[in-house]
Amino acid sequence: MMNKVKLAENTYWVGKIDDREVPFHRLILAKGTTYNAYLLHTSKPTVIDTVDLEFGREFVEYLSTHIDPSEIQYIVINHTEPDHSGGLAALAGRAPNATIVCTEMAVDELKEMYKLHHRNFLVVRDGDTLDIGGKTLKFKETPYLHTAETMITYCMEDKMLFPCDIFSSHVATESLFADEAGFDITEDFIGYYNAIIHPHRRYVRTLMKALEELDVQMIAPSHGFILRTDIEKYIDLYDKLSANTVEDKRVTIIYTTIKNNTKKVAEQMKRIFEENQVEAQVFNADKAEQAEMIASIQAADAVLIGSSTKYADMVGGLEDLLIAMKDMDLDGKIAAAFGSYGWSGEAIEVIQDYLMQTNMNVQSTSKVIKTTGMTHVEFPVRIRFMPKGEQTKKIEHATAFITDLLQSAI
Ligand SMILES: Cc1cc2nc3c(=O)[nH]c(=O)nc-3n(C[C@H](O)[C@H](O)[C@H](O)COP(=O)(O)O)c2cc1C
Ligand SMILES: [Fe+2]
Ligand SMILES: [Fe+2]
Repeated sequence: MMNKVKLAENTYWVGKIDDREVPFHRLILAKGTTYNAYLLHTSKPTVIDTVDLEFGREFVEYLSTHIDPSEIQYIVINHTEPDHSGGLAALAGRAPNATIVCTEMAVDELKEMYKLHHRNFLVVRDGDTLDIGGKTLKFKETPYLHTAETMITYCMEDKMLFPCDIFSSHVATESLFADEAGFDITEDFIGYYNAIIHPHRRYVRTLMKALEELDVQMIAPSHGFILRTDIEKYIDLYDKLSANTVEDKRVTIIYTTIKNNTKKVAEQMKRIFEENQVEAQVFNADKAEQAEMIASIQAADAVLIGSSTKYADMVGGLEDLLIAMKDMDLDGKIAAAFGSYGWSGEAIEVIQDYLMQTNMNVQSTSKVIKTTGMTHVEFPVRIRFMPKGEQTKKIEHATAFITDLLQSAI
């Protein structure tokens, strides 16, 4: 059993060191990891995050060496993934008076996963504070870092940030403070960023904005090292690593249409690309010369092809172009299909099939989920009738995703 690890007055590490080669997110964590949970032993004792599902009971036993769990008033869950929320069922059972504190989106996930339908939840929103009797917690929403429901917790008196997965490292270490590790942890810190955070780097901007308002003196993440020196260096690394690293990218967008709905989709995509400094050329395949479109495709880094659906098929002369593309060497280019439709949208799927026959990197919802876990980015981009409301969000998410693929060096 570890000695007590104290971070500040009445603030303790109560996690679990896992020195197995843990399988995680299709990677093997060669150096193991830790699941860092924290006890703020104030007059309304609060636990921040728990440990992996497998160690729930062990976690509650260790926590019980610090406090009688029935005294716990709040359990803060920053992120619902079970490597941090996994101890919640065991803890909630022993802490019947505790209120579970999380974002609105997290409530259902936690209730379903841990059968907590009858428990008290406190939903917190961006900027909310919570008095825990001697210390004050402030919550900031950090969606998609790395899942939608994620938030970070800041203790105002201790100037301490509890960012869960963010600013973590996957190392099973008994020297929990980075400054006591005996080696430079930067490589592990960057390796973790690349594996877990970089696919969501667009959202690091939200995090940076949130941090501007907080005076952070210590970062207590939920994997690996606790940071209490060089804080600015670690925050700067996230800022720099998430910045656009590649410029001068070009996109070709080609469409056919009956009444211009698909044209509107194409134009909205162009606008979003250009707002992100990606050059976009748009063609109506029924008006442009095929040679001109092919030259543009050859010079492009990403190719987006769309058609509306008419009697279950594509509109106009798009098929000739798609057939020609099958014989071209388009290796290394990103591709996506899109289109406006009424009720079935067959044309969009036909385009997707054609693109799959080229050697381009064709985007699909399945691929996005497998590489990033994000479920709000959908490919092909299927828009019902005229793009408006929720439908335009689909265009924004998909176009932003392609922009990020293009501008990221990793
Ligand atoms: C003659 C005609 C046939 C259509 N057939 C289909 C169809 O088979 N499946 C479908 O999902 N939508 C169908 N639609 C609906 C259109 O795809 C839809 O109105 C779309 O928004 C048109 O986009 P556009 O303006 O880019 O052509 C049809 C529309 C028309 C006018
Ligand atoms: Fe996670
Ligand atoms: Fe995690």
